[in-house]
Amino acid sequence: MTTVTVTPAGDDWENTVADTLVELLPVCAGRRFCLATGSTPAPVYRRLASRSPDLSSITLALLDEFGGLHPDDPGRCLAMLERDLLDRLRTEHRPRTEPIDPENPPEGNWPGAIRLAVLGLGMNGHIAMNEPGSAPDSPTRRVELAEATSIGALRYGARRAPRWGVTIGLGPLMASEELWVLATGGSKAAVVAAAINGPITTSVPASLLRVHPRLRWFLDEDAAHRING
Ligand code: PGA
Repeated sequence: MTTVTVTPAGDDWENTVADTLVELLPVCAGRRFCLATGSTPAPVYRRLASRSPDLSSITLALLDEFGGLHPDDPGRCLAMLERDLLDRLRTEHRPRTEPIDPENPPEGNWPGAIRLAVLGLGMNGHIAMNEPGSAPDSPTRRVELAEATSIGALRYGARRAPRWGVTIGLGPLMASEELWVLATGGSKAAVVAAAINGPITTSVPASLLRVHPRLRWFLDEDAAHRING
């Protein structure tokens, strides 16, 4: 089943996602969350951190990581998660984290059982770094990045545009108990509509998620304005 939650942009949207995450925590002790990084989830994580949640019983796996960047590059996905969430938590509330080392990449079904994956949506429909053309059962693997994804890393403060990355595959992602996709802003409206109302196709990897039994979209009104029904 797919649920679509639409709120006004800004505070309402951030509070809705952060509060829904906080509500889930008591029943998720000992479980694993996979968290997207990037511009869309950043304000949600900052809002979440301001609630002072205790994540010490949760394992947090990264969804993906850029390759070929210096370990200290601020554009790395781990650096974003640290900035927006981990460093804002009290030390005793920090989760166990499972970062991705691009030089020694995980493969296959990594990271194992996932309670919840929180995903962003690329302008080209990508999910994590599963670019258009990725197979629905693709494993965790090293991938070449689409040009827009590569350039997009500069928005995150990367000192150079990465050409490749390591991503959780659509296969292990689809085995998650629950998937959330976050999208905000009018620039995402067309790809959101394609993912929700268009054909289920590898050309739009986010559309492949529609066969998942528990898929929830959190959209602001701008990102939602082209969806039907
Ligand atoms: P964004 O990236 O949140 O920075 O727009 C989304 C994505 O590419 O997954």
